[in-house]
Amino acid sequence: MAVPTIKLNNGIEIPAIGLGTWQSKPNEVSAAVEFALKEGGYRHIDCAWGYGNEKEVGEGIRTSGVPRSEVFITSKLWGTWHSRVEECLDQTLANLGTDYLDLYLIHWPVPLNPKGNHPIFPTLPDGKRDVDHSWSIADTWKQMEAVLKKGKVKAIGVSNFSKKKLDEILPTAEVIPAVNQLEIHVYNPQHGLIDYLKSKGITPQAYSPLGSTNSPLLSDETVTEIAGKHSLNTADVLLGYLVTKGYVVLPKSVTPARIAANLTGAVAASKKLESADIQKLDGLAAAGKQKRFITPPWPVDLGFEHWPKLV
Ligand SMILES: NC(=O)c1ccc[n+]([C@@H]2O[C@H](COP(=O)([O-])OP(=O)(O)OC[C@H]3O[C@@H](n4cnc5c(N)ncnc54)[C@H](OP(=O)(O)O)[C@@H]3O)[C@@H](O)[C@H]2O)c1
Repeated sequence: MAVPTIKLNNGIEIPAIGLGTWQSKPNEVSAAVEFALKEGGYRHIDCAWGYGNEKEVGEGIRTSGVPRSEVFITSKLWGTWHSRVEECLDQTLANLGTDYLDLYLIHWPVPLNPKGNHPIFPTLPDGKRDVDHSWSIADTWKQMEAVLKKGKVKAIGVSNFSKKKLDEILPTAEVIPAVNQLEIHVYNPQHGLIDYLKSKGITPQAYSPLGSTNSPLLSDETVTEIAGKHSLNTADVLLGYLVTKGYVVLPKSVTPARIAANLTGAVAASKKLESADIQKLDGLAAAGKQKRFITPPWPVDLGFEHWPKLV
């Protein structure tokens, strides 16, 4: 099956559907990645240093037998490394067993204390996450531009950046982020932020497109009704809706049947959904269903709508 691609602002083509790997346990993820590439038709894997499973993802890529040049690999810079971008990238490259990434993202616009009490989630005595307030994310972006220049990555972008956070890096950026990876699904469509991304030539990537673990989206009445009308699964509609809108979509699964169905279903749904369906799905959140599933307790204002109040 031909997977649609999207042209990024630097001319690079990215497959519109990629396999997510967050919360895929190290002992499951190799097989999931191998299956996705070898049998599921995927050519795009979404990884992160912070997921702690990049070695196993790399194993899956190698055992699939699909040449490195045919796979689009994304990874992300974790917060404790904002002041040491190349070091974190080098670890990711070694873990994955590759000498370049197709896309490298700042995972969250929150620099964490690199000398704190934990390598991933350093905390202060009061239990709050230990943010490095002395570090500017505009300087993180400069280091992202440097690894791009060196050729270690083919494109750079951001993740979890609101307009407020983008506006902290854009004035001094030499390279406009190619993508912004965000929680986007029918209950959190972020229409306003996406219009802003479009105005800047930044491609939206939809994470948690199915609503993440134990998702209520899969049994949503409207989504189920639209799925029934077109003889699709609800997951197909959730994913196809996002593909139709021109976003990159990143469903995670470690279950072979779901891995395969998510790709074929997303493509099928993107062809079957009608403008009336899209309109209905576009309006679900505003009609009372607005909900975010991923809201880590960063003790800083990220500038997002519908984010829990800081404590
Ligand atoms: N940048 C960021 O900060 C960020 C944050 C969150 C996620 N992400 C990325 O986005 C990816 C996807 O997000 P996510 O993992 O939160 O959630 P998701 O893809 O929306 O949902 C994953 C969950 O849905 C289940 N599932 C998958 N396909 C299904 C189907 N066809 N029918 C029913 N259930 C299905 C999976 O179960 P099984 O695995 O058991 O099949 C898993 O429990 C992540 O893996 C990661 O790569 C990025």
